[in-house]
Amino acid sequence: MCGIVGAIGNQACSPLLLDALKRLEYRGYDSSGIVTLDGATFDLRRAVGKLVNLDAVLTQNPLSGTVGIGHTRWATHGGVSEMNAHPHVASDRVAIVHNGIIENYRPIRARLIEQGHTFASDTDSEVLAHLFVEAFDAGLDPSQAMQKVLAEIRGAYAFAAIAQDFPDVIMVARNASPLAIGLGDDGSYIGSDATALAHLTRKVLYLKDHDYALVRADGVDIFLSDGTPANRETVIVAASPGMIDKGGYRHFMEKEIHEQPDAILNSLAGMTGDDGRISAKMSREQLQAIDGIVMLAAGTSHYASQVARYWIEGLAKTPVSCEIASEYHYRNPVTTGFTTAIAISQSGESLDTLKAMRHAGLCGLSTIGLVNVEGSTIAREADAVLPTHAGPEIGVASTKAFTAQLTVLISFAVALAEAKGHIDAARADTIHDQLQALPGLVGKTLNLFDHIRPIAHQLKNARSTIYLGRGHLFPVAMEGALKLKELSYIHAEGFASGEMKHGPIALIEDDLPVVALLAADELMEKAASNLKEASARGGRIILIADERAVRDIDFEADIITVPAVDPLLAPIVLTIPVQILAYLTALDKGTDVDQPRNLAKSVTVE
Ligand code: F6R
Repeated sequence: MCGIVGAIGNQACSPLLLDALKRLEYRGYDSSGIVTLDGATFDLRRAVGKLVNLDAVLTQNPLSGTVGIGHTRWATHGGVSEMNAHPHVASDRVAIVHNGIIENYRPIRARLIEQGHTFASDTDSEVLAHLFVEAFDAGLDPSQAMQKVLAEIRGAYAFAAIAQDFPDVIMVARNASPLAIGLGDDGSYIGSDATALAHLTRKVLYLKDHDYALVRADGVDIFLSDGTPANRETVIVAASPGMIDKGGYRHFMEKEIHEQPDAILNSLAGMTGDDGRISAKMSREQLQAIDGIVMLAAGTSHYASQVARYWIEGLAKTPVSCEIASEYHYRNPVTTGFTTAIAISQSGESLDTLKAMRHAGLCGLSTIGLVNVEGSTIAREADAVLPTHAGPEIGVASTKAFTAQLTVLISFAVALAEAKGHIDAARADTIHDQLQALPGLVGKTLNLFDHIRPIAHQLKNARSTIYLGRGHLFPVAMEGALKLKELSYIHAEGFASGEMKHGPIALIEDDLPVVALLAADELMEKAASNLKEASARGGRIILIADERAVRDIDFEADIITVPAVDPLLAPIVLTIPVQILAYLTALDKGTDVDQPRNLAKSVTVE
C-alpha cells in the first residue's frame, strides 16, 4: 500500500502531484506529503490524515518547482505522525518516497547511525534517503548509486528519489510493489498505477521487478539492477474515466452497491462468446486440460473463491483448493493434482496474491488472473486473464467487485462443466438465462434499503454478532461478517450453520444478533433448524432469505426477504442485503464508510 507519485518537466509540479495523489488515496490515508526541488533547495509539505489536510496546507503555503515527488501513506513502520509521513529528506540532499517494506532496514540504519547519519523518523523507508547520500558522498552518479542501494536493500519496494546534486532526474526502482512511468508532452511522471497519471498522459511503461530507471523531463532510461540497460514496452492505457465522483450518492460504497446490476451485466457480457453462449475465453481443449484448481486470493476475493468452489466442484466435478494467498507459498504447498491457479483480485495488485500466483507459476501451474483492473500487475503476469467489468471501485470495502467476481466465476464453472461433459448444452444455456435475469433480481433487492434501515439502527449498538450460512452461503456469511466489522468496527464472525453445535453456539446469549442466510435449497430445512437452535438460546435472528425460504419460519426473526432465485445463484442475490446492512449500520454509527480506519484499498505489503 502507500501511493507514490513524481513529476519532472517544465511546469509547476505540485498541483499535478496533488491531483495524482488524490487518485491514489485508496492506497492509504494515514498521512501524505509532497517535496519539490526549487532550484537547489528542497521544499517539503506534509500533513497527518486524509489528503484534504495536505491540500489545505498547500493552499496556505504553496510549493514551487518543476521536479517533485509525493506520497500517501498506509503506516507500516512508525506511527501515524507528521514525522513519519513521507517524503523523507536526508541531510537536505536527497528526498525519497517509498511504498513497501525494507525488511533489512534495522542493520542498515544502525550502520548509518554509527557513521554519523541522523534519522528523523521511525520508518524503514528513511534508510533509502541516507543510502543515496552515502553513495553520492562516495562520488557515485545516479545510476551507480542506484545499483549500490539496490544491492544493499531487501524487501518489497517501489520508490522514487530526487537529489539536490542531480536536479534533472528522478531515480525510481521497483521490486514487488507496483510502479508506472508516464511519458508526457510536458514532462515525465511516475505513479503507483497508471490511473494516477491519467490526467497527465496515457503513454505508460511498467518496470519489472529489480529494474531501476532514471526518469528525466524528456524521457527515461531503464536498467536491470546491475546496470545493464533494459527495454520495457511503452503501452497506451485506456482513456481514464476522469476523477470519479459519487454521482449524487452520499458515499462511493452506496453508489457501488447500486452499480451492481451493471457490474454483473457487464461481467457476464465479458464471459459471453460471439455465439451468445457462456464462454471462458478458452478453447474446449484448454478447458478439458484443467484438472484441479488452486484459488489464490485475500479477504473478500478469498470468499468469492470459496463460493466458486461449490460451483466448480458441483458443476464441473473438478477439485478446487481455496488458499489464503498470504499463507500459500510459505507453506511449500504440494501442487500435485493441480494444473491451474486462479488468482482473484479486484485491484490486481495485492502482493500476497501476486506472490502466491508467482509461486504457483514456478511450480508449473498455468495461471489465470481474475482481476477488475486492466493492466494491473496480476493481469500482466498471469498466463491468461478473466476480467471482471465492475468499473473502478473506490470504496475501500469491496462490494460490486465481489458480485462481479462471482458472476465471472459461475460462468467459468459452467463453461468448464460443459467442456468436460458434466453438463449438457441445454443445462449451460438454462444457467446462462438465469444469469441474464440476475441484474433485474439484484435491482429489486436494492429496494431493501428502507426495510433494512431500522434493523441496522438496532444492530449498531451490538458489541458482537454472528453470521451464519450453510453450503455456498457459508462464504457469504463470512463476507457479511467482514463487511460489518471493517465498516462499523463491530466484532463479527461468520460460521457454517451446521458447525455451531460443535462449539460456537456457546457464544449465543440473550439478544446476540445472529445474521442468518437462507436459500430455498436442499439444505434449507437443516439450516433453519440450526437457526432455531440459536433462537432458542436467546439469539436475536436477522434472517436474510429467499421469499420461498421464509414461509416455514416458526421462530422470531427480523426478516429481510429477497425475490425467489435459483439456489445456484442465491450467493449473489443474498450478498446485496448483507452489504446494505453493513453500510446502513456504519452510516448510523457515523464511521467513515468509504475509508474505514486502518485500511487501504490496495494492499501491496506482506
Ligand atoms: C474487504 C476488502 C478486502 C479485499 C482484499 C483483497 O472489503 O475489500 O478484504 O478484498 O484486500 O483485495 P484484492 O481483491 O484487490 O486483491
